[in-house]
Parts: sequence; structure tokens; C-alpha cells
Amino acid sequence: MSDEITSTLQENRVFEPSARFLAEIGPLVVPDMAAYWRMYRQSIDDPATFWGEIARDFRWYRPFDTVVEWKAPDAKWFVGGTTNVCANCIDRQVDAGHGDDAAIVWEGEPCAPQPEVRTLTYNDLLREVSRTANALKALGVRRGDIVTIYMGMVPELTIAMLACARIGAPHSVIFGGFAPNAIVDRVRDAKSKIIITCDGAWRRGQVVALKKNVDDACEKLPEVEHVLVVRRTGEPVTMHTPRDQWWHALVAQQSTDCPCEALDSEDLLFLLYTSGSTGKPKGICHTVGGYMVYTAYTAKTTFNLVAGSNHVYFCTADIGWITGHSYIVYGMLPNRVPTLMYEGAPNFPAEDRFWAMIARHKVTHFYTAPTAIRAFMKWGDAHPAKHDLSSLLLLGTVGEPINPEAWIWYHQHIGASRCPIVDTMWQTETGGHIITPLPGCTPTVPGSCTLAFFGIDAAIVNEKGEELPPNQGGLLVIRKPWPGMLRGIHGDRERFIETYWSKVAGMYVAGDGARRDKRGYFWIMGRIDDVINVSGHRLGTMEIESALVSHPAVVEAAVVGMPHEIKGTGIAAFVTLAPSFTGTADDSLRKQLAEHVTKEIGAIARPDIIRFTALLPKTRSGKIMRRLLRDIAAGRDSTQDTTTLEDFTVLAKLRESDE
Ligand code: WTA
Repeated sequence: MSDEITSTLQENRVFEPSARFLAEIGPLVVPDMAAYWRMYRQSIDDPATFWGEIARDFRWYRPFDTVVEWKAPDAKWFVGGTTNVCANCIDRQVDAGHGDDAAIVWEGEPCAPQPEVRTLTYNDLLREVSRTANALKALGVRRGDIVTIYMGMVPELTIAMLACARIGAPHSVIFGGFAPNAIVDRVRDAKSKIIITCDGAWRRGQVVALKKNVDDACEKLPEVEHVLVVRRTGEPVTMHTPRDQWWHALVAQQSTDCPCEALDSEDLLFLLYTSGSTGKPKGICHTVGGYMVYTAYTAKTTFNLVAGSNHVYFCTADIGWITGHSYIVYGMLPNRVPTLMYEGAPNFPAEDRFWAMIARHKVTHFYTAPTAIRAFMKWGDAHPAKHDLSSLLLLGTVGEPINPEAWIWYHQHIGASRCPIVDTMWQTETGGHIITPLPGCTPTVPGSCTLAFFGIDAAIVNEKGEELPPNQGGLLVIRKPWPGMLRGIHGDRERFIETYWSKVAGMYVAGDGARRDKRGYFWIMGRIDDVINVSGHRLGTMEIESALVSHPAVVEAAVVGMPHEIKGTGIAAFVTLAPSFTGTADDSLRKQLAEHVTKEIGAIARPDIIRFTALLPKTRSGKIMRRLLRDIAAGRDSTQDTTTLEDFTVLAKLRESDE
């Protein structure tokens, strides 16, 4: 496993925070490295005091008795406490007299000629969330019922999530780019009886037919009793009575008074499905108390957020992924810094859209993915240069390792060489940042996510759990519990233990290979399982293989990642055709198969290359030799030991057919 971890990256440039950053950001949450180390040690040695103090700043209906209870792999945080995440996001701000402050600034995609902008204050949110929560109750949703949300990036998406949180109905948000089958799997697994959706979503000037996708999914989901539909695009949709109802009709009738449920700290806040090595996507469970405290505190610290200042924060992720959950919604609202939410594509109507938005809204904090940065580089320096980006103070990245070249471009062309970059490493499972620089404090090195966040006892170990010396690649593990950690995989205890806790006894195994350099900085080298990170989006190679073999022309498929200039990792599929297939293995079939995957999973899973092969290279025990395929896809001559290959000729044939 760990012999696959290789990296040739050598990077020694160190960037200290600029004087202008220090002058303009406001008081630093962590003023210097001495403070970082002091706080870090306390967070590891005495987590109860460290997290207890932070958690007491939140609103609790009943104070917690114990900060943490830990018996690997089960953690309970803020035990005995009752609280409500929605109350801490909204009501607390309103009660403190900040009801008129901007909470969410939203910009729609269409620009005819100006984009539509909606600002929601905390008062607006309180009113709309309460109404929506009452609407959900009117549809029979009770505490503990899981609500599926499949929407575009419109304010109603955030409102729907917060409404669920308010009444203790966990949500399961499905990314709007997923296809109907992905909805079917997730709704079934969650046993959800209600779906909230939109008629459609704007994406690059086109309408994505969300409601139609829900209709298609519901053909296989007789258990879905209600579909609540937000009107966004105005395109015609079919409303099935009595199942479907318009949001605007139902929500408007509701009272604006909806008390928050007092929820147990360990009640489920949401499920979010993510890809693993095997099988279908798994529903990662996050609970109320720990997730609330961890996301708000990491947001405040990593982005140095200052409530009531000029800060305007813009994260370009979609809320359908964990980044949007944690750092557009739940981490942001308790910190009272306006969060800018954007509906559409980065290149609509032109490739300068983000820069125009930064200038328009005087954005101070900008958080995006390396894949996006590589696209910006390709689109050209002229786009950012046209706009006034002087409001920017801090930049961030997330989702995959950033190559130093992209880091330097981001630093120079977006950050004018004065904005620190926080390269934040984390996962759906971790709830919030686990390894990241702290701005104004941690010196940064391009390509390294630097040091562990407070409470994260991260290490690089071998399979026996022994810590490895500097620069030796190994498994990234976390040895102690932290408040934002996943509490399980929905309905699959065995898979939870097997995936995260069985590879190294008693430690959380993240699934990434990494090393630490001599200064102790972490360098993530990529996934060590069959998960690939395509444009910063997590996909299981198995899911794509299953989609391919569900096509009648295909009997077997193996999918691996390959280097890709923009996406970071592209998708290479090796496909064996069915004997019954009588057509030709040509580009038209390649296109058909690619479309089939798009239809089954979504466009993000569309293979970049498809290779036809009579056989796949396998070991004697029948395992597909993925390493070989990875080398072939990357155009590398394989130096791997091939003595276990069942059929050497397979490899030779695959090489011969190299385009
Ligand atoms: C990768 C996204 C290097 C990593 C928040 C991880 C990163 C997976 C970084 C989780 C980073 C995320 N540097 N790699 N800064 N951030 N990753 O669950 O492989 O969609 O395991 O969460 O993304 O992806 P997920």
C-alpha cells in the first residue's frame, strides 16, 4: 500500500505574512507560533479544558457535563448538553442585536444585464427558516426524519438546511450535478420520505433539470411522499399531485414562529454521502454539538474571521459537498461574517466572473480549489488583472494537493503577493480543517498544508502504527478524537470500522499518503485507496466501473486515476467488451460509454480516456493490477514487479495499443 506513495516534490520557499495583511486583517486569533504551539499542546494534552472553553461560548439549553468520552472508534463530545445549531447560527445573532447584519449575500448566475443579488440578514433568515421549518412540519416531518435536499445554489438551499437543523430533522444534501440513480441510492439508504428540490438550476447559461431528475428517481422510489419544489428558473415542470408542492405556496402560509428543538449533542445533524474504495457511496454521519463547535472554531481560526468588521467571505464550493456545508453555512453564520454564495459557473458569462464578484462585493476572503486555480491560469492573467482585487486579504485552497506552480500564480495574480494562502487539508469525515496554516501566524511553503489544527493529533505512520522519520512517506492518521469527526457511516457499523479503524489499531486512517518534512510540515501525496480526486471531487473508481459494466456492451471495466493538467486527476477507464457485442470498438462507442457514465452518476464521473482491451491484467488470485494500469494511463513505463501477472501478454498488448 504505502510503496505506492512517491513524491519528488522539493519546495523550500517560505512565505511569511505580509505587513499589510497584519495591519488589515484585525486582531489575530492566534498571534504567533509560540501561541500556536502553546494552544496546540494544551489541545492535545488537555482537550477537555481546550474545547470546553470554546464550546461554552455557544448557546446551550442544557450545559454539557463532560467534554469528551472516548472509546475507539466511538467519541462523544459535549456529553449531556442540549443545543441547536440553527439557534447558534441565527437566533443568537438576532438576540444580540445583530438582526440587520448581512448573513448571506447571494448572486445568481444570469447577468441580464446585471446579476441578481439578494442579501439575507439574520432577521430575514430567522423568518424564512422558521417558516420553512413549519412547512416541513406541515408535511409530517418529525424530529429524526431524514430530509433529502437536491437543489441548485440558491438561498433556499441554505434555508432548507437550517430549517432541518431547527427541528432536528437531519438533512442529506445531494450535489445537484448528480444523476437520478445517485438520488435513488441515497434516498433509499437514508430512508428519506421527502425531497426538497428546484424546478431547475442555472449552470453556464443552461438549465439543469433538477425536478425532472427527481421525477425520474422517484419512479424507483415509491416511498417518497413529498417533493417540495423551489421555483428558480421558471422552466415548465410536471407537478405530480398530491406528491409535489411549490415551496413559495406552502412556505408563505406558515407562521414565522418556530421554536428550536433542544437536541442532544450527539443527535444526528446531517448525513453526507461520499465515495469510498468499494461499494456505494457511504452516508457520513455528523452530529450536532461537535460539528457545530468544530466548524465554527476552525472557520474563525483558519480564516481569522472578525465579526462586525469589513470581512466578506467567498467560498466557491457547492453546498452539495462538505466544503459548502462547513464553510459556506455552518462554520460561517456563528461567526457573523457575511458569506457570499454564488449560483453558477466560474466562466459565465466570461472567465472573469469570480474576479468581477470579488470587486463588486469587496470580498476579503476567497476560498477555492486547486483545480479551479489551474483553470484560471489557463484562462490567462488578463482576467484577474482587469478587476480591482484590492479588497482581498486572505486566500484559501481545499480539496487536493496544490502544485507549487499554481500556488505561486494564485499568490501573485490574485493575492498581489500580499495575501497569505491557507492550504486547508480535511475530509468529509473530519467535518472541518485538520491540517492548515493559520494566517498571520504559520509561515507557508507552497504545496504543504503545514501543521495540524488544534486538537488534531496527526502523524505519519507505517501499518504497525509506528511513527516514521522525516520525509518518509506513510499513512496519515489521527490518534485522538476531535469534535468534528464523523460518528459513523449511516447504517453500516462494520464498514465504518473496516474503512477507518482497522488498518492501524486504534487510529483514524484518513486514506491519504503523506510525509512530514524536517520542519514538521505535512505534505499530502494523495489517496492510497481506490478513491480518486477529480477536480477536487471525490469519486470511487468502483462506482465508475459499476456504471460502465451496467452498459450492455461491457463485461468488465477497471478505472484508475491519471495525471491531468487541470483536474489534477483525470479518469482512465480500461474496458473489456462483451462477447455478444457485435459493433466496433471505436470513438463512437467511447462516446456512448462516456455518456452512459454521465447518465448513471453525473458529468464529474465522465472518463477522460477509454481504452478497449481484450483482457485486464490480473494477479493469480484474480485482482486487477491497478498499479500497472495507472502507469499505462500515465504513459509511464512500468518498473513494477510483474511476476504475479496472470497473463504477461495482457500488459504487452495494452502497451502496444498506446495511442
Ligand atoms: C484531499 C474535501 C491535499 C485528500 C474537503 C482527502 C487534500 C480528500 C486537501 C477528501 C489539501 C482535501 N491538500 N489533499 N489541502 N484537501 N484533500 O471528502 O485526499 O471531498 O482525503 O473533502 O481530498 O475529500 P472530501
